[in-house]
Amino acid sequence: MLKVIELFAGVGAQRQGLKEANIDHEVVAISEIDKYAIKVYEKLHGNTPNLGDITKIERLPKADLWTYSFPCTDISLSGKMLGFDKGSNTQSSLLWEVQRLLEIAKINNELPKYLLMENVKNIVSKRFKSNFEEWISFLEELGYKNFYQILNSKDFNIPQNRQRVFMLSIRDDKAEYSFPSPIPLSLKLKDMLEDEVDKKYYLSEKMLQFLNDETNRNGFIRKKQFRPHNIDESDIAFTITTKAGSRPTDNFIEVFDFRYDEGIRGRVDNDLSPTITTKAGSKGLSGQPFIKVPQATKQGYAIAEIGDGIYTNRTESKRGVVQKESVPTIKTSPNDLAVVVD
Ligand SMILES: C[S@@+](CC[C@H](N)C(=O)[O-])C[C@H]1O[C@@H](n2cnc3c(N)ncnc32)[C@H](O)[C@@H]1O
Repeated sequence: MLKVIELFAGVGAQRQGLKEANIDHEVVAISEIDKYAIKVYEKLHGNTPNLGDITKIERLPKADLWTYSFPCTDISLSGKMLGFDKGSNTQSSLLWEVQRLLEIAKINNELPKYLLMENVKNIVSKRFKSNFEEWISFLEELGYKNFYQILNSKDFNIPQNRQRVFMLSIRDDKAEYSFPSPIPLSLKLKDMLEDEVDKKYYLSEKMLQFLNDETNRNGFIRKKQFRPHNIDESDIAFTITTKAGSRPTDNFIEVFDFRYDEGIRGRVDNDLSPTITTKAGSKGLSGQPFIKVPQATKQGYAIAEIGDGIYTNRTESKRGVVQKESVPTIKTSPNDLAVVVD
């Protein structure tokens, strides 16, 4: 049986993975300090010895696999990117605590055979590659062969667009490993939703109004900045510039697109945000009710149908706010995400 230590355990996603892969294992200890994560961990996996703050751990019990999904806060593009230099005191530099514990394990002849890392894609970007390589060199010195790859959950039948770097280290210089091949996405976002969703999770009327506000689609709908010619009003083009099409006042002909006639007015409620309801009314070409969500594209909006995921914050200044039948990457506070429901 594989003895496992989950460092930075969170809610135990690594442990869940082992369960789902049917790998016979026992989690001998975890290290986690967040009281809410610990509560969820216990609920999902039962009581497990928690060694607490990793900086205070003197020595880990013997195990075959350590997982270390260390904080990405200072690496992620959505943070300040302070990095994870050794001794920098950033959250992400807690990685070097794993180094300290591995060095202790080495002295005690207890190095685990396997290590599993997970972190954001940005860790292999130009900016952080040297830190990452420093880490890999250290592992190589200890005798680990390292295999890493960027995986996206949507390539493994999870309707969430989430890219993460996974690195498996095996303490065997002849070790070989290849990452699993993608699995076609058959699950849809709506397959993941509960049948009954508490009212508190619906978006507020205010948010719904915002999502349906046609005055704020980068001017493309109500023509505040963009002045398309209406075929009925004028057949004379504006001055033709060298960069036609790049500015709001360039030459465009407005053609009525019947697909995008009246969007459905949805009912939405507040708080954690995951659901937007559509109600009967006009339907899109596919016969589905839909809402038009503002976004920073020429068109100024994207069509969201039932089962689609939406980024609800600052939609008018973002691109790709609607994801078909999936959700964008879920962050620790997912209050900017919504799902369109029937
Ligand atoms: C990226 S998350 C790990 C998520 C985890 N893989 C899961 O399944 O939920 C990083 C975790 O490190 C924990 N953490 C932060 N500082 C820590 C410390 N000093 N000691 C132990 N855990 C810490 C955080 O509370 C957080 O849960």
